[in-house]
Amino acid sequence: MSDNSKEVEATKELATSAGSYSDHEYELGLRVVNEDAIADPGLEPHRVRMTDKSVKHEKAAVRQVALLFTLSMLGSAFALWAYFSFPLSEDLSTVRLNTMYLGIGMTLGLMGIGIGAVHWAKTLMPDNEVSEERHLVRGSDEKRAAAIEILAAANQESGFTRRKLIRRTLYGSLALFPLPGIILLADLGPNPGDSLRHTYWKKGTRLAKDPTGIEIKASDVTLGSVFQVIPAGLNPEQHDYLEEKAKAAVLLVRVDPSELKETDERKSWSYQGIVAYSKICTHVGCPVALYEQHTHHLLCPCHQSTFDLVDGCKVIFGPAARPLPQLPITVDSEGYLVAQSDFLEPVGPSFWDRSVK
Ligand code: FES
Repeated sequence: MSDNSKEVEATKELATSAGSYSDHEYELGLRVVNEDAIADPGLEPHRVRMTDKSVKHEKAAVRQVALLFTLSMLGSAFALWAYFSFPLSEDLSTVRLNTMYLGIGMTLGLMGIGIGAVHWAKTLMPDNEVSEERHLVRGSDEKRAAAIEILAAANQESGFTRRKLIRRTLYGSLALFPLPGIILLADLGPNPGDSLRHTYWKKGTRLAKDPTGIEIKASDVTLGSVFQVIPAGLNPEQHDYLEEKAKAAVLLVRVDPSELKETDERKSWSYQGIVAYSKICTHVGCPVALYEQHTHHLLCPCHQSTFDLVDGCKVIFGPAARPLPQLPITVDSEGYLVAQSDFLEPVGPSFWDRSVK
């Protein structure tokens, strides 16, 4: 009796002696299992393609593949043209055109290569059905040598070397396609230098309401009131108006001076309970916009970071890592609120060479 037969007998013995099955049931079960085994369906009958039967169709397929690769080249070239013809600027209609045309061009660039390659493979490359038994991942040296031979033959049969038109248009489309992606790197923008460390505020700049630009006197700020503030003199016509306004945005609030928990250094940064803090959240830069008068909490609507206004705008909840920077303020001889200086630390989110404190 072979090892396999012994094993089958032992299994049968175990199943029947445990009382789970009778001899008859066990035999029946084996038969059901064998009858349910999935038969090898084999290969479907080979269907000869039109391009195998007719030179005319073969030539048409070659032209179609080349056309698709050419379409890819045109798409990539179009994306490059669109990028330079519609430079990103403050004009939103230009930005929309830049994005739309760049997207269309890159889509055509990638789609032409993809569809062209699939069409090439389906219509012109060899169409032989092959079935292969599973085997060890690493073949024998003989099989590996044979595989290399097959690859060389496939190279010949696919016509990669012979069909110069397809090869060259494929090279062209592959060479052009990455270019639109590469030029997008230019939009990372110029090196910011130390512009992240400074804002438009400087000593003596008056605080003005946003967006009217009306300058604010200390007497205008009643207990519990909140003002959205920009530096007076910030000119909407200047080229960097939006950047400067975004960095300099401030929230101005008046609280009962007795409620302020100010360090010795900051005692002179407020004026009769009026405090000014950067409006730019230190998490990822959303505008902090909600002030709860009862608790003196400032809330960022983006991810719910919460800052305690009367305690140096320290973070009491949420993902922000630092307090909101405070703008030191005072009043001038006419009673207008003015900055004592710029912020003494960068506003907004942390960046690569800014320490978190
Ligand atoms: S940007 Fe304010 S909490 Fe995320």
